[in-house]
Amino acid sequence: SFKPLVFSGVQPTGNLHLGNYLGAIRKFVALQENNDCIYCVVDLHSLTATLVHPDLADQTRSITAAFLAAGIDPKKHIVFNQARVSQHAELAWIFNCVARIGWMNRMTQFKDKAGKDRENASLGLLAYPSLMAADILLYRATHVPVGEDQKQHLELTRDIAQKFNNDFSSRIADLGIGVEMQVGEETVNGFFPLTEPLIGGPAARIMSLRDGSKKMSKSDPSDLSRINLTDDADTISKKIRKAKTDPAGLPSELDGLAGRPEAENLVGIYAGLADITKEEVLRQFAGQQFSVFKPALADLAVDKLAPIAGEMRRLMADPAYIDSVLRDGGQRAGALAERTMKSVREIIGL
Ligand code: ADP
Ligand code: NA
Repeated sequence: SFKPLVFSGVQPTGNLHLGNYLGAIRKFVALQENNDCIYCVVDLHSLTATLVHPDLADQTRSITAAFLAAGIDPKKHIVFNQARVSQHAELAWIFNCVARIGWMNRMTQFKDKAGKDRENASLGLLAYPSLMAADILLYRATHVPVGEDQKQHLELTRDIAQKFNNDFSSRIADLGIGVEMQVGEETVNGFFPLTEPLIGGPAARIMSLRDGSKKMSKSDPSDLSRINLTDDADTISKKIRKAKTDPAGLPSELDGLAGRPEAENLVGIYAGLADITKEEVLRQFAGQQFSVFKPALADLAVDKLAPIAGEMRRLMADPAYIDSVLRDGGQRAGALAERTMKSVREIIGL
């Protein structure tokens, strides 16, 4: 079977928020202990929405700084930005020819981001999941920690891997470069693994603080909707104080949060930050009003985020250091990527 490897990426678009931290980056940090990990700032992905980005290089440094400040170790693992390793774009092209247009048209993120004027969305936005599959499969990664919003893209990554493995099964066998893997009942010889998403926990989907039906997002025009990793203590407290809730207090059981998305979201944020379950949060705060819970949540958020923000500021004052991390990571990632691409070119006959 395939050697376990963790891969994930974050786009250099806007400020990182609590959803990115709890849904993704905090998991990246935890996974370092028992895995080889590759963490990528996916700058090519950020072009799908806005091609002209005057501050792209700084945004890339800022995500890198967040990775390092959160505790990712760029010596033991690999941290780099996607554009440094041109094989990402090369494999994405191959996958554009593996994937079907119908698969892409079904992606809910494409529908959301393209909006009503779909004809005017970039072709890159439609092909986004194909580049994401390339990011992952270029390293033959077996596990991808992401938030719940990425679930459908991970399924598509598996579809692409499976179709490639099927379409080229005899070439892969002839060249003797396949790996034995279990697909349902069958044992097959594949070149690409069927990657497992690592989604879950109380913070897999953090919602907007202003509207419990929308996910917390960098692109939300309301800054009150999200807590940014770099917000200061007063801003964090203010945003939590102003967060939408309902008049009822905190219930003692999870059932009591049904139909109360804003309340459930705040409980999930507390659970994520404290690294406990929602049930445990409710045991602690059962019967309390939000006037008590919100200040406790604000204190906890400041406690967890202030050290990261401080370290990010320190790192951002030394852009040459951040660039050296990306350069070194890019070289190591590039060597691994080229190994995979050599085989892919051979399989296809390029
Ligand atoms: P965004 O969705 O904010 O533009 P990215 O697409 O770069 O950010 O996502 C980076 C990571 O953060 C992904 O793994 C994504 O699933 C995760 N993520 C983004 N928003 C949330 C959220 N509201 N809750 C949990 N995880 C999230
Ligand atoms: Na996203």
